[in-house]
Amino acid sequence: MAELKNRRYLDALLKRKVDRTPIWMMRQAGRYLPEYRATRAQAGDFMSLCKNAELACEVTLQPLRRYPLDAAILFSDILTIPDAMGMGLYFETGEGPKFTKELKDLTDIAALPVPDPNKSLKYVMDAVSTIKTALNGDVPLIGFSGSPWTLATYMVEGGSSKTFSKVKRMGYEAPEALHLLLSKLAESVTEYLNAQIDAGAQSLMIFDTWGGVLSPRNYREFSLDYMAKIVDGLNLGSGEQRIPVTLFTKGGGQWLEWIADTGCDGIGLDWTTDIGEARRRVGDKVALQGNMDPSVLHASPQVIRQEVQMILDSYGQGTGHVFNLGHGITPDVKPENAEAFIKAVTELSPVYHSE
Ligand code: CP3
Repeated sequence: MAELKNRRYLDALLKRKVDRTPIWMMRQAGRYLPEYRATRAQAGDFMSLCKNAELACEVTLQPLRRYPLDAAILFSDILTIPDAMGMGLYFETGEGPKFTKELKDLTDIAALPVPDPNKSLKYVMDAVSTIKTALNGDVPLIGFSGSPWTLATYMVEGGSSKTFSKVKRMGYEAPEALHLLLSKLAESVTEYLNAQIDAGAQSLMIFDTWGGVLSPRNYREFSLDYMAKIVDGLNLGSGEQRIPVTLFTKGGGQWLEWIADTGCDGIGLDWTTDIGEARRRVGDKVALQGNMDPSVLHASPQVIRQEVQMILDSYGQGTGHVFNLGHGITPDVKPENAEAFIKAVTELSPVYHSE
């Protein structure tokens, strides 16, 4: 296996010394890039793009050709697991994901299979190994999955939601049904992420996009405990060879101590918590990833640079910070503003690693 030429991303997560703060952007391969839109048109629909290893590899590499990013992220989606469980995933233009199958009760949930990642999700493993080969050791490859709770919200609601009324109602009225679904998802995610490691992923991320809509008690019961179980079941290794895993609960700023206790290596931070305060709260336990408001990318390059400076300053001296957006880059951002953001991090961060 080729030696990694740039380990900054892994080293910062493992709290080893780095020369500057590493950076990547959530959703760095996406519609804000004209070359992405062209490849997406060539593939037809979004899932066909995910299922074609060569094209998935192409869009993964596109942002790295433009910008000096310190990590590549597998081009795929969190909804591949529900799709492989037979939920009948499709994307309606402008409306986001939808499913043909409904999950109403325990009987529907009991019938769901735990997918074999090397069968119905083999296309994802093919994408991982194709991308890994194409990267040629330039930067590490991040594999990912959704959290059981976040996947359950899409599956029970039948798509995106603003109120989460169906899945929350299930949590209050039929908790045994929701727990069965979450257990199956936790088992599926563990096997899926271990298969991504076998296929070549060098770091992992679990997206808990909707954990923040829960009460503290329900967050522990329906989201955090299942993510902790997954972290326990991953073949991450140890020392310099460890495959760091990052947990990102959007809106989870008040639960950072709990998240740090799962045994994860990094916590993804949205923009609603100050990163310096977050660092004081978690101490040496974990690294932090984030936390610029993606809306800043609509502002001018000078304003973007000031925001970057403030976040670097708030985190302060030393390793343990991976610069990122607090959530995904949106399709209406100008590519030159993303460039100004990345440039600001590469230029302004070395002084924070001088000691
Ligand atoms: O970061 C990357 O570059 C890797 C690719 C990636 C995608 N989705 C591609 C994608 C990753 C890491 C995801 C994760 C994902 N998917 C999450 C968790 C992170 C987050 O954003 O909170 C969630 C909640 C999803 C579910 C999902 N997928 C939704 C709600 C949508 C529709 C939203 C939209 O913007 O239209 C998707 C589709 C999707 N996934 C797109 C991309 C690039 C847009 C599809 C297109 O090209 O039309």
